[in-house]
Amino acid sequence: MSSPTENVIRKPNPERTLSESDRRSRDFYNRRARIYDLHLLIASLLQGVWEPAERRRFVTGLNLVPGQRVLEVAVGTGSNSMRIAKRIGPRGRLIGLDISSAMLQRSQRKFRRLGRKADLIEADASRLAVADNTFDVVLHFGGIKNFGDKRKALGEMIRVAKRGGKIIVSEKCVPPDKRRSLRNRVLLRRDPLLAQQPPVDLIPSTITDVKLSWFWSDTAYEISFTKP
Ligand SMILES: C[S@@+](CC[C@H](N)C(=O)[O-])C[C@H]1O[C@@H](n2cnc3c(N)ncnc32)[C@H](O)[C@@H]1O
Repeated sequence: MSSPTENVIRKPNPERTLSESDRRSRDFYNRRARIYDLHLLIASLLQGVWEPAERRRFVTGLNLVPGQRVLEVAVGTGSNSMRIAKRIGPRGRLIGLDISSAMLQRSQRKFRRLGRKADLIEADASRLAVADNTFDVVLHFGGIKNFGDKRKALGEMIRVAKRGGKIIVSEKCVPPDKRRSLRNRVLLRRDPLLAQQPPVDLIPSTITDVKLSWFWSDTAYEISFTKP
């Protein structure tokens, strides 16, 4: 079997351009990468969520078609990547971007095991070294609540999507009307950032088809819209 072509672009943003919060995230995920997948699987189970089923549902909802170009911002260990790669097929192109080199290395290993090509970029979500109007789908699944500049990161996701392209932004969050349950109080105590509201107010007013829905047993939101 021929070995897959690997393309890992390491272009870390200069340290001085990173906000304190992005630096902290990068260092946190560099330390956490080795146990990230197992930790998330167990934490989700304790929440009553079967992670593989939620991810399958999420990727199915993207309605990807063969040949599409997809960018996953904050790709992490690539937990969605294989499902996406299967749907866009060999003619499609998937690029994963993340600020943490250790998370990208885990992602790279998954691609290698499955004999697929990995296009991975080590960079900050608010400075995408990618041309305008490039992707049919730009998705983000977890991370934005910690981003130093959410508005800029969203702006970048929109900039690199093609006109008519889809943008999907998901993040863990406890909805304001569901904060009283014991489970959600425990979640908020462990991570107060789960109180951050979905950043729909940061989406430019020229975008008129913004949809908001909830999944992951009502502890994650999904915002989707089209680039006009
Ligand atoms: C909760 S994990 C989600 C990973 C993956 N998307 C998933 O579905 O499991 C958050 C990810 O965001 C990345 N991240 C945090 N801040 C970032 C930034 N400013 N730019 C790019 N990636 C960032 C972290 O390195 C980490 O991989």
